Amino acid sequence: MTIALAAHDVFKIYEGKDQRTDVVALRGVNVELHAGEFVSIIGPSGSGKTTLISVLGGLIRPTAGTIFIRGTTITSLQTNQLVQFRREHIGFVFQISNLVPMLTLQENVMLPMKVAGKKGLKKRTQELLSAVGLKERRKHKPAQLSGGELQRAAIACALANDPEILLGDEITGELDTTTSQEVMDYLKDLNKERGLAMLVVTHNEQIANQADRILRIKDGSVLTQRLRDETSTEELYEISVKGRITIPEELRRQVGLERLVEFRTSSKGDHLKLYPSSVKSPPIVTKEPIKASEKICPVCSRTVPQQIIYCIHCGNKIN
Ligand SMILES: Nc1ncnc2c1ncn2[C@@H]1O[C@H](COP(=O)(O)OP(=O)(O)O)[C@@H](O)[C@H]1O
Ligand SMILES: [Mg+2]
Repeated sequence: MTIALAAHDVFKIYEGKDQRTDVVALRGVNVELHAGEFVSIIGPSGSGKTTLISVLGGLIRPTAGTIFIRGTTITSLQTNQLVQFRREHIGFVFQISNLVPMLTLQENVMLPMKVAGKKGLKKRTQELLSAVGLKERRKHKPAQLSGGELQRAAIACALANDPEILLGDEITGELDTTTSQEVMDYLKDLNKERGLAMLVVTHNEQIANQADRILRIKDGSVLTQRLRDETSTEELYEISVKGRITIPEELRRQVGLERLVEFRTSSKGDHLKLYPSSVKSPPIVTKEPIKASEKICPVCSRTVPQQIIYCIHCGNKIN
């Protein structure tokens, strides 16, 4: 699996007049995003979502921490190198439209491609505008477009240079349910067929739940990661960064645990064992043996290849 983006121990402090007015917007965030993966970010207002997206995409510099994108340490790049890197590899869709007011929609979509010295602009522009349902609006200027149309135009611009990563902040916030799903379906096609890695902030639960993984952020920390249960397309279960998982009720009943208990996990031997720490009960042992070349992620308790440092399921660091 190709890692599209990895962030290690990222902090962002917005400096105030003095230390008391400093705002710590990100507190040691670790994130990993793979090619072809769709991850959504949810969290209350002011929790650091926009800051996280901006820092990960190199729009603002973190106060500390390292960000790798496709093998390049973007936190070490000089500003002009960073600008070029962003243009070639990352597509941004933000709440605030970044369309140029004097240019038509068509010209706006062409602009990033022109700057990057691309060829065949007209065909690609038409393709993009059709995909987001704005072909008829191509001669309009941004002021003549509705909020939803502006948002779709921003998506077309973000995809113009065929980025490997799409970073979005409420990308469908202005769209009605049907249009929003149409745009998401188009993005998900790119995601699954062309391996576009997507990291998207959303308040829309319906969109969040379509992701492979959901990161919940609170007070600048990634709190929990909700993973889709592979055996079911509906059910989600929660794993906290402290390694706490919620055991489904059915499984608890099977092993005779009536109330919530804590488990310690162990990968000794060739099975994963869950030891209830507050109940005298034998450990739950997984049915599938674990291969020697695999280890257990201490956070989400899933098996990962031995050599991996960041869990391929939940993105957390494995020591
Ligand atoms: N440019 C800035 N200068 C100072 N503080 C900021 C700036 N941008 C955001 N913040 C603060 O950082 C915190 C996180 O903000 P933000 O990333 O916008 O959160 P969200 O997108 O989750 O609403 C908030 O407390 C916000 O007030
Ligand atoms: Mg925000």
